[in-house]
Amino acid sequence: MGCIVAIGAQWGDEGKAKMIDYFSKDIDIIVRYQGGANAGHTVVVDGVKHVFHLIPSGILHEGKICIIGNGVVVDPEVLLDEIELLENKGIQVEGRFFISDAAHILLPIHKAFDEAMEEFRSHKIGTTKRGIGPAYSDKCLRIGIRVGDIFDEDILYERLSFDIKLKNLYLEKVFSKQPFAPEKIFEIISRFRDKVSKMVINTAHYLHTAIDAGKKILLEGAQGFALDIDHGTYPFVTSSNPTIGGALLGTGLNIFDIEKIYGITKAYITRVGEGPFPTEIKGEIGEMLRTKGGEFGATTGRPRRCGWFDLPLIRQARRINGITDMVLTKLDVLSGLKVIKIAIAYKLNGKEIDYFPSSQLHRVEPVYVELPGWEEDISSCTCFDELPKAAQNYARYIERESGIKLSLISNGAERKNTFKVS
Ligand code: IMP
Repeated sequence: MGCIVAIGAQWGDEGKAKMIDYFSKDIDIIVRYQGGANAGHTVVVDGVKHVFHLIPSGILHEGKICIIGNGVVVDPEVLLDEIELLENKGIQVEGRFFISDAAHILLPIHKAFDEAMEEFRSHKIGTTKRGIGPAYSDKCLRIGIRVGDIFDEDILYERLSFDIKLKNLYLEKVFSKQPFAPEKIFEIISRFRDKVSKMVINTAHYLHTAIDAGKKILLEGAQGFALDIDHGTYPFVTSSNPTIGGALLGTGLNIFDIEKIYGITKAYITRVGEGPFPTEIKGEIGEMLRTKGGEFGATTGRPRRCGWFDLPLIRQARRINGITDMVLTKLDVLSGLKVIKIAIAYKLNGKEIDYFPSSQLHRVEPVYVELPGWEEDISSCTCFDELPKAAQNYARYIERESGIKLSLISNGAERKNTFKVS
């Protein structure tokens, strides 16, 4: 057992990247297991902000190995930009960054399809328009291009020509959009192949060998539990599995390799895009959380919807993922509120329920408790005992009622703003 997992326990944007950066110092290999460039992982080091969409944020730690697993859909243009940006900052990428040969490639045709589909459909999802749904659909339809395929000219030509033809038919005939010139797509692949040829490996084999050699591995999730295609608020979800099942499928590791599962949990809750959100706060307090918490999408810049902490959602995240430890993030953002609400249950059809319904979330009314808030700025606290009593009570209340051991608190964007809780 050499493997820990960091999973978003809500609707994404829980502050995973910062925690992955924190864990990375004691880890040998960091692996991203699902999603694509829809994720925007932000890490602040010495006041400098780094945003990653594909490469694990652990790359900022010298000497660590970073991997994109088979469960990810890889946008070659975004990845090439990310590699170039890191190299320009003097961060070595070659030799310590690898991509699974079984990861799928996401192309401009997928992005155009995603955008056209959003315009076309009656119920908007509010996707990031990064082509995620169409790329995973191609994988399921068995017409996708895997990273390993780009090194075989015949396979690549045949499969890619077919996919471009099919997507162009949809774009032109269904959505009345411009088709893509195949040369443009082939040119992107060719640039990508030139740059990454030495980085493509069988990552499942690499990871199993590393575990046998006693290496420590961190599996990095993107998005969060409630955006999971199977367990989230369908259809307002992403097209992959951010939950623990996705961590295994997206890397090729097995359950016996996993030692701990950290649920990265924001001290309040946010959601981007459409879909039900029972504890959403409209008005002044929601606006305060958005501004103070910098709640704007790192990928799209969209304002995030903000709400009170939701216990039925977290309990479900614990059960589905087997979360062993909670990391409570952004606790500092709540400073200044006189009263803080927490949803302890929902009311559905006049009855109180304490679980997260799979299809009727839009019908529930949250049942709240109110806890006293605190005035003090807590971003300089370096241990639990330094927190104001009300902040301690709030964190302990969440720990007790969620049934998840509180292991870490993050109280600011910088690396130094993190402490262990015993
Ligand atoms: P898609 O993943 O771009 O298809 O978007 C589907 C839904 O997931 C939309 O509501 C997006 O706003 C949401 N989403 C996708 N990626 C993220 C993320 O990294 N953080 C938060 N929400 C996300």
